[in-house]
Amino acid sequence: MNIAVIGTGYVGLVTGTCFAETGNHVICVDIDEKKVERLKQGEIPIYEPGLDILFDRNTRQGRLKFTTNLKEGIQGAEVIFLALPTPPGEDGSADLSYVMGVAADLSEIIDAYTVVIDKSTVPVGTAEKVHAILSDKLSEDLFDVVSNPEFLREGVAVDDFMRPDRVVVGTSSERAKEVMSRLYEPFVRQGNPVYFMDERSAEMTKYAANSYLATRISFMNEIANLCEKVGANVDMVRLGMGSDSRIGKRFLFPGVGYGGSCFPKDVQALAKTAAENGYDFRILNSVMGVNDKQKHILSKKIIDYYGGNLSGKTIAVWGLAFKPNTDDIREAPALTIIEELLNAGASIKAFDPEAMENVKQVFGDRIQFAEEQYETLIGADSLAVITEWPVFRAPSYKVLRELLGEPVIFDGRNIYDPKVMETEGFYYDSIGRNK
Ligand code: UGA
Repeated sequence: MNIAVIGTGYVGLVTGTCFAETGNHVICVDIDEKKVERLKQGEIPIYEPGLDILFDRNTRQGRLKFTTNLKEGIQGAEVIFLALPTPPGEDGSADLSYVMGVAADLSEIIDAYTVVIDKSTVPVGTAEKVHAILSDKLSEDLFDVVSNPEFLREGVAVDDFMRPDRVVVGTSSERAKEVMSRLYEPFVRQGNPVYFMDERSAEMTKYAANSYLATRISFMNEIANLCEKVGANVDMVRLGMGSDSRIGKRFLFPGVGYGGSCFPKDVQALAKTAAENGYDFRILNSVMGVNDKQKHILSKKIIDYYGGNLSGKTIAVWGLAFKPNTDDIREAPALTIIEELLNAGASIKAFDPEAMENVKQVFGDRIQFAEEQYETLIGADSLAVITEWPVFRAPSYKVLRELLGEPVIFDGRNIYDPKVMETEGFYYDSIGRNK
């Protein structure tokens, strides 16, 4: 199949590459000339494990191409994916100007039947709006608009895309259904379902899924905070709860709050959609409030430990990305925590395996960066772990004790065992577990 993907952000690039991997011919279109040039040179602008192998193979074999020219990009395409940014507008609702702008451009150039697919996370009703724009200039038999939300996670995006739990397709057109079935057939061979539904339900499914996962995290963060007050251990509570098959074990990890480009934006946008429809979605408002507060939990612990004043203190920071295996720092709790520690007078020495370049853009020389994790400890008073990269999980306690001014660790992700830390002689504070 000939496929065009408009937008080479996270979702667009993974979508394009993975469809090329199953034998399709994919052209990715982006208005950013520099980015397209880099992609043409074989340079991937994001860090995503495993993407490079597929990207290299498919560009080399001529199935994955890049252009800034929309008309050229969609030439002969049976399907066009819109994988465009939908950033939060000033009022929290998703800004659809990119999606609508491209739809208007497409309405001028589509000249044979094409399925136009919303891949971006877009508010309920967007497929209808895209349809309306296209039908302004095009006859109805030249196109269908489909909502096909993407559920991939950063860090495991290729695997999620190649082996989805399910594929959600919102369309009322039989013709588009046939095209979508053909397109996804190689990805659901093991029997995972493709759910066909109406456009609005597909759009809602994406927001509901992300908001529910964010709700689980905020709920567990509250349970963890309460565990600290009543002397319970959230690790045990999590296992006890999660073993109930109605609840499930995943996404119950408390921490320093959820970040990234999806949960914060999508929870806010769904709350906004609810408000616009005269519905007060009270749970979502609490989920956001809890998360905002949770982003301050670790810095509060550190500031309290030092009696409110961190001047003259240096805190080593391990982990800056919003989660492991990505260089993405959008809405990363580390940014909030570091800002707060700096405001309290601390110096910061940070290390992250992939995200340091991005964090440099935010803090410049207000914080120091280290080449590797142990270097952060030299001259530092204590250590704060903010992102649970695997490389931080089994450190040398001896080196930690030797290099840190005091054997003190604040762990925002519960990656160490409190009993081991006690035996090893550390003051250790984590989330929802006794000190
Ligand atoms: C999320 C969804 O998981 C994907 O299904 C979805 O496609 C994507 O958003 C999107 O809308 O594009 P992602 O933002 O890449 O994916 O990251 P997650 O792995 O979901 O983690 C989100 C945040 O929740 C991270 O900050 C993570 O640290 C936090 N988290 C996750 C917890 O605090 N506890 C957990 O148990 C799980």
